[in-house]
Amino acid sequence: MRRRDFIAATTASAMLVVTPLAASVGNGTGGRVVRYALAARATKQRLGPEDAPETDLWLVNGVSPGPLIEARQGDELEITFTNELDVPTTMHWHGIRNLNAMDGVPGLTQPAVEPGETFIYRFPLKDAGTFWYHAHNKGWEQLARGLYGPLVVHEAEPDSGPRDILLMADDWRLDDDYQIHEDSLGSLMDWSHQGRLGNWLTINGASLPDIQVPSGKVRLRLVNAANARSLTFQLGAGADAEIVALDAAPCTPFRTDGFRIAPAQRVDLIADLPEGATSLYELSGGQPFEAARLIAAPQAGEAAAPRPAGPASASWYPRPDIAGARVVDIHMQGGAMGNLTEASLMGEMMPLRELATDHSKMWAFNGIVGGYENLLADVARGETVVLRIWNDTRWEHAMHLHGQHFWVNSREFGRAEHYLLRDTYLMAPAERADLVFVADNPGDWLFHCHMMEHHAAGMGGVIRIA
Ligand code: C2O
Ligand code: CU
Repeated sequence: MRRRDFIAATTASAMLVVTPLAASVGNGTGGRVVRYALAARATKQRLGPEDAPETDLWLVNGVSPGPLIEARQGDELEITFTNELDVPTTMHWHGIRNLNAMDGVPGLTQPAVEPGETFIYRFPLKDAGTFWYHAHNKGWEQLARGLYGPLVVHEAEPDSGPRDILLMADDWRLDDDYQIHEDSLGSLMDWSHQGRLGNWLTINGASLPDIQVPSGKVRLRLVNAANARSLTFQLGAGADAEIVALDAAPCTPFRTDGFRIAPAQRVDLIADLPEGATSLYELSGGQPFEAARLIAAPQAGEAAAPRPAGPASASWYPRPDIAGARVVDIHMQGGAMGNLTEASLMGEMMPLRELATDHSKMWAFNGIVGGYENLLADVARGETVVLRIWNDTRWEHAMHLHGQHFWVNSREFGRAEHYLLRDTYLMAPAERADLVFVADNPGDWLFHCHMMEHHAAGMGGVIRIA
């Protein structure tokens, strides 16, 4: 699907309504209330080649990915969300430094939205950047079936210009008839290993799409919506690119050849595209796999690609001093080939074998299989917090904190020292990392692995900010 069609189709189907923010509700930024209507429903869409049957999916407003939600920094979003599925669900606004009650975590921040029910999410947009939304009930199944979409908060004008290009990737596991491979949903093999890895890559809901773009500089916003696979992208020869933001937060720009995006992470690039076709390759399969083609043509009188504000001038906060900070030790354990022999589930100690076979659990933090009841820390508002994490497993994990971004000395780009502000950090096996944040957003916030199967199998807990 071409990007222009994608934008037109999705904006119409989301029934965008923008109204000036009433004076009585003023948030002090002069922003507006931007309204969207979203519905989760069962729909068909073709993910395979032209002659393939359509795939039965669960989608937001009947399209994959769901509608692009666009607003401007300082606006408020109001999303009327209706659940037309026959199972409960919720929506989570990934990366938004949200109001706790709007965070969309069932059983923690709200009750699940039952079939036929509507829930109104309304929250201010403090930060500009590339975000996304996704279901947060049984994510391992609901994301695998397609319940997610992109959310872009612009620095200035609220429209995607032609130089602002969203590329949302997914890694589906399809059977021979191009249907979701259902027999393996909940597979303990996947849950104890890397998670559900797919066999069908899409960009913006299509296999190897041609995407029309202007030649010259463009902003590419890549989102990885996969359940478990970290994707490695590379632009074809002749395209020059630098990373300007990660997980919505601007970074000091750095050049890159290929880069990995873990599940839930976002990478914003400014790329200089030559006229003609530039392929976007995905390399996680060992050899370059063509994922999309950017077809670039000159465009007269075009403005420059929209750049994020620099790291210092943005709404984000500088890296805090950790002297005197509250240190929370988190020992990540479990999974296949790990050294976890027993762990506590709901207060009861059990051998790993029993946890796995009777409860589908095989991961833990500090010897405790995580659920929403697992309180990892209770911190005071305003405190500087260090989540001191040790990945004592044989697997990578994409660690995500709700409600705030953290600073991390990232090893993701192969550098010795590289401090980044992120909301999801990909940890290598045996790695130790400090995730540092100022706890200024009150509420109960989930901290979990974004490999959906790992989270479901126990890799999660709660940070309470009083
Ligand atoms: Cu992307 Cu708990 O979320
Ligand atoms: Cu994990």
